[in-house]
Amino acid sequence: MRLKNKVALITGGASGLGKVDAQLFVAEGAKVIITDVNDEAGMALAEELGCRYVHHDVSREEDWQRVMGIVTAEFGGLDVLVNNAGIVQVADIESTSLALYQRMNAVHNDGTFLGCRYAIEAMRERGGSIINMSSLSAIRGYPLVPSYAAAKGAVLALSHTVAVHCREKGYPIRCNSVLPGPIATPLALTVIEDASGMGQPEDVAKMVLFLASDDSLHVSGAEFVIDNAGSMVGGAV
Ligand SMILES: NC(=O)c1ccc[n+]([C@@H]2O[C@H](COP(=O)([O-])OP(=O)(O)OC[C@H]3O[C@@H](n4cnc5c(N)ncnc54)[C@H](O)[C@@H]3O)[C@@H](O)[C@H]2O)c1
Repeated sequence: MRLKNKVALITGGASGLGKVDAQLFVAEGAKVIITDVNDEAGMALAEELGCRYVHHDVSREEDWQRVMGIVTAEFGGLDVLVNNAGIVQVADIESTSLALYQRMNAVHNDGTFLGCRYAIEAMRERGGSIINMSSLSAIRGYPLVPSYAAAKGAVLALSHTVAVHCREKGYPIRCNSVLPGPIATPLALTVIEDASGMGQPEDVAKMVLFLASDDSLHVSGAEFVIDNAGSMVGGAV
């Protein structure tokens, strides 16, 4: 029960990595709020796990205000935020429109920025852990997904600034980022068809659990690559 009594909000929790995070968090004793834009899948999962589901587009500030209001009213505060919601679309730099670039930025970068802002407000006094899903694409050149990679680079840089800000302010809030290589989820399988050699969502969820739990109390401003050294040997996309 590594998350006993902790209140944890997981964005994009209806599918893939967020779904497995939610399953593991519930098993470890957390009170979990799943948010997503896919209401059907989100509600079904919440019912299965006995947790709360809220509709939430992470790129919209008014949605964050509504979600945080619900979390405060129903759970009394927030201990863990996993900024996990994400989308991907394949288009190399020459075929990427400004609209696509901006949409990727809105979901990943704006969404994570808003999450950090509202989580700091909620956690300033009681402390907590913010976990931002970046990607290996933030630090390696992936020519098929320039808009996604640029947005994930922003998530990584933002995480560093949040961690240092909280330390300097004396807030007991940690902020770390997770950089998975290809992991077998619906998102990754739209980019890469061959799932062989990919990691499994559980491989990432166990790192997210560590960062959410009190085992990581002295860990902040760090980034965790999860790719079984694939990028070092040229094996990752
Ligand atoms: N799977 C991988 O290989 C991989 C690698 C590196 C990073 N990531 C990151 O991990 C996170 C989870 O990805 P996944 O692979 O589980 O994908 P997924 O498609 O299985 O799940 C993503 C979820 O986010 C939701 N979502 C999309 N737009 C949203 C929005 N605007 N507001 C709220 N929810 C929204 C989707 O409905 C979906 O349920 C993403 O941030 C992704 O970029 C994934």
